[in-house]
Amino acid sequence: MSFLPTPHGGTLIQLYNPTFDIQSIEKEIPIDAISLSDLELIGAGLFSPLTGFLGKEDYESVVESMRLANGTVWSIPITLPITPEIAKTLTEGETYKLNFEGETFGVITVSEWFEPNLQKEAVQVYRTDEIAHPGVKNLFQRGSIYVAGDIVLVKKPEKGIFADVWYEPKETRALFEKNGWKTVVGFQTRNPIHRAHEYIQKVALETVDGLFVNPLVGETKADDIPADIRLKSYRVLLDNYYPTERVHLGVYPAAMRYAGPREAIFHAIARKNFGCTHFIVGRDHAGVGNYYGTYDAQLIFNEFTEEELGIKPLFFEHSFYCQKCEGMASDKTCPHGIEERVILSGTKVREMLSNGVLPPSTFSRKEVIKVLIDGLKEATTMSGGR
Ligand code: ADX
Repeated sequence: MSFLPTPHGGTLIQLYNPTFDIQSIEKEIPIDAISLSDLELIGAGLFSPLTGFLGKEDYESVVESMRLANGTVWSIPITLPITPEIAKTLTEGETYKLNFEGETFGVITVSEWFEPNLQKEAVQVYRTDEIAHPGVKNLFQRGSIYVAGDIVLVKKPEKGIFADVWYEPKETRALFEKNGWKTVVGFQTRNPIHRAHEYIQKVALETVDGLFVNPLVGETKADDIPADIRLKSYRVLLDNYYPTERVHLGVYPAAMRYAGPREAIFHAIARKNFGCTHFIVGRDHAGVGNYYGTYDAQLIFNEFTEEELGIKPLFFEHSFYCQKCEGMASDKTCPHGIEERVILSGTKVREMLSNGVLPPSTFSRKEVIKVLIDGLKEATTMSGGR
């Protein structure tokens, strides 16, 4: 008997078919890196129950009410943007190759195409239409027509250095079962893992059987720390400070949307598809700048029942090291003032790292800092010091 949650919508979608006959298909639709990632993750079942890119009815329903047209919870529109020029070449019902940089990774059978209300999508999904928001910027830049239809993934994108840490949902599910984990908590991050992250993961692990450290390694904004450097930092952290038999590291090759609350729901659903029973949501999950309140990404879970989500969110307060407590804590557990607390912003830390200044070990493990400083130095040398 399996204790793992049923995939979202009831079935784990599997749409990979490397023997699909693409030779007979002449026409193509060019796709960008975000769509390539979406294509792969639909194909691998991470976005179950989606079987393709959203049609108008589902899209409008998701934008409006965070549900697919059939009522299933779904908070981020997974759409395939194209230009009006490409739209002019399409015929309903026909199958097209989906090409990234000239190479075919999938096919789509076009059911329709439509002009979305991008302004409305921005305000509903991102809670802002400011171009300064990286998700909104992408939204307005990527194409003004959405093409919809079921897909087949015919080729899996190369995973490079992530090859041995990319497990599809069917693999993570098998692995969790093999480990005998009845409860597994998923952890999303787009950053190096600092002491506060480690603290909330380990507090969660005190109450569940396994921890799935699941860093996002798809497209992120330019000033986030590159995923290859982060991967090295995760490995060194886990090797030195985590119980290997209770922790599994696997990447989440999705694009970051920075949609805060709505993305927290989306992240939780994807982790349920991986087989997680619990999901960590801390301070300003998937946020950027000051667009969302510190706990908005937790409050949004009140809009859904636990049954319809099928994964239990574990909420954490803003955590930090307190010099007086001599340990990690949060407002919930620490009575001391702000002057005792080690709190550094992501921007501040990036600035310190790129100037070779070591953040304190109360903020980040020394092994992690070393990997980050070395990695960023190497990246700067390779880009000619920019
Ligand atoms: S995210 O964009 O991937 O969510 P980040 O990597 O910063 O950003 O956070 C990963 C997870 O840790 C999120 O659930 C976030 O809410 C949580 N988190 C980050 N920093 C803290 C902190 N200091 N205290 C509590 N939770 C935190």
